[in-house]
Amino acid sequence: MSADNNFPGVASRRAILLIAKSAFAASPHLEMRRLADLVAAFQPGATLRFAFTEQGTPSLREALSALLDEDVDNVVIVPLVLPMEPSFHIWLTGSLKRWKASDERPWPALSIARDIASSALMVPLIGNLLETSEELHVPPGKPPTMEGSLVPSQKRRVLVCAGGACNSAGADVIWNHLRNQQERRKLRVTGDGTMTAKCTCLGPCNLAPVLQVFPEGTYYGGVTEEAVDRIITEHLFGGQAVEDFAYHPTGRKQRLRAPSDQN
Ligand code: FES
Repeated sequence: MSADNNFPGVASRRAILLIAKSAFAASPHLEMRRLADLVAAFQPGATLRFAFTEQGTPSLREALSALLDEDVDNVVIVPLVLPMEPSFHIWLTGSLKRWKASDERPWPALSIARDIASSALMVPLIGNLLETSEELHVPPGKPPTMEGSLVPSQKRRVLVCAGGACNSAGADVIWNHLRNQQERRKLRVTGDGTMTAKCTCLGPCNLAPVLQVFPEGTYYGGVTEEAVDRIITEHLFGGQAVEDFAYHPTGRKQRLRAPSDQN
């Protein structure tokens, strides 16, 4: 690869982290890997990784955690997200702050690329895509009739609060981690079987982020990814509430306990 093809300002020991929202099937993962390989060819010396901010593995936290063990000085996060939600930067900086506070390893400097829509190359890119458009064949006929539905047999439910206070406190990260673990640890078919769902405000907003486990109805507050892992192992599979993060009805107002009291 010619050095003339390099983007300017490439530093050694730099990592580039491409992030997309979600990927469920294998093909989007392959697509991200292919993209990372293509970018790597133009960034000699840089470490190329990709991650997903919603569902899909590796999650952003997992990818960042792996990079902390590598010899990199700085990580440039490149969001391949269109359109970019106005809250994305707030979500990202809030999540990074929490992760950094709970990880004692030295962190590299972090930076973030501008959003795709602001690139001057967007219009030429769309023009190029138009040149390669193909006819979309829609077969005639009636829409397919709905098939019968299976009534789920799972006895457990985990509700993750997606109300305002919980969203501000990182509920998305909790939800994404839970859904990734649902796939990894086969929550639907293990033990009593667990279904997960998002919901509106569960009530104790000052304990955000909050989730609730049924059939017991146990409330958990100040939930972290580590707390989710323990709730899966100890409560969903073991039947025992994780008291470090559990909040039981007392008839009195309760405050979030200090993090040191929760681990
Ligand atoms: S917003 Fe989550 S408990 Fe109220």
